Amino acid sequence: MLDLSPTRDILDPIEVASRDEIAALQLERLKWSLSHAYENVPHYRKSFDAAGVHPDDLTSLEDLAKFPFTTKQDLRDNYPFGMFAVPREKVARVHASSGTTGKPTVVGYTKHDIEVWSEVVARSIRASGGRPGMIVHVSYGYGLFTGGLGAHYGAEKLGCTVVPISGGMTERQVQLIEDFKPDIIMVTPSYMLAILDEFRHRGIDPATTSLKVGIFGAEPWTNSVRQEIESAFDIHAVDIYGLSEVMGPGVANECVETKDGLHIWEDHFYPEVINQETGMPVADGEVGELVFTSLTKEALPIIRYRTRDLTRLLPGTARTMRRMEKVTGRSDDMLIIRGVNVFPTQVEEQLLRCSGLAPHYVIEVTREGRMDEVTVHVEAREGLADEASRAAQAAELKAHIKNNIGVSTRIVVADPGGVERSMGKAQRVIDRRPKG
Ligand code: DLL
Repeated sequence: MLDLSPTRDILDPIEVASRDEIAALQLERLKWSLSHAYENVPHYRKSFDAAGVHPDDLTSLEDLAKFPFTTKQDLRDNYPFGMFAVPREKVARVHASSGTTGKPTVVGYTKHDIEVWSEVVARSIRASGGRPGMIVHVSYGYGLFTGGLGAHYGAEKLGCTVVPISGGMTERQVQLIEDFKPDIIMVTPSYMLAILDEFRHRGIDPATTSLKVGIFGAEPWTNSVRQEIESAFDIHAVDIYGLSEVMGPGVANECVETKDGLHIWEDHFYPEVINQETGMPVADGEVGELVFTSLTKEALPIIRYRTRDLTRLLPGTARTMRRMEKVTGRSDDMLIIRGVNVFPTQVEEQLLRCSGLAPHYVIEVTREGRMDEVTVHVEAREGLADEASRAAQAAELKAHIKNNIGVSTRIVVADPGGVERSMGKAQRVIDRRPKG
């Protein structure tokens, strides 16, 4: 049985340090990071000068609020290597976002950055219940996306045996889980649901696998999906968060013993939550946009990066470092439907209340005349074959969405397997409204 309460001696000392110790370390590192950015990246020199601030103006952590934000656009404007703070020869690796529109954003790492990244991912896997000697099946994509290689280096660092299968080839995923008997799987939650289907399709009870823990992230997912995965596979489903601009996976991770939000590895990433309209920091406990400043990164120091992710900061529990609440959505993914703000995860939550429907969905938005119309494409679970029961499930979902979110929708129930599966991050919204 998985030991859920790690003894202190297997944790990094900083994970159980006092708040004062953490704050002192942060202040020292923040001073270094601001100077490093200012002295070596023309963009930061220009933006600090324009805002009339200098790294020497920082004498307390609160002073960070005087410094300008960095956005994805800043990285795009400096494509490809303009944000690097070290000579290109010192950059050991680059990653990039896929960038559906415009240029991708490119990020770089020195050898030391990769070492730090491996450490925070190793810490994340350990917080999830991973231990040296375990087998870790990595189904995050390998390549420019940070998921695969980030997970891989972290698992190796912890002393695990890594199976670098990457995303896709779902039948092979199931075969290798059966044959290699991994303890841990690291994959997007949406792709885990596709793997779940494949187990059932083959007539294998997913609860009988060797898996003990799944470490899921790279996209928003609800506690309803957590329950679905935990009960089907009989595993612990733990949340991992990160973004390439700040590092990759392993910026924050849940602890398996509490599963109450993600502890931010605050010795390397300094978090703030701001009011999206005013840009002012809000108090811990209040919801807003998450902003990160790197404290130790050499190749790509990032100062006050606006993530667009919505969450709130909470005090530490299983660790002294602060937690961020599970991210329910990005401001970019928020749909405004006839004046009502809707996040895909809200629809997900209602969908999982309908026992006859599978947890796969796509939300399509169209405009008919002046009205936005929302169609939620879902699929029946195996066994829900007759038209009348499908219609009843559609009516139930429609009512749940109307009563809980406040928008009217059209529900289309496809056959099992009818909603397209993702191999990595799921695309939840198809917006067909005319632009502009
Ligand atoms: O998705 C890094 C990652 C890989 C995290 C594997 C976890 C596991 P990007 O491709 O740059 O990096 O996308 C970052 O994904 O700003 C969030 O909007 C979203 N995201 C990442 N993790 C979570 C999570 C990777 N646990 C963007 N919950 C972020 C909700 C998440 N959203």
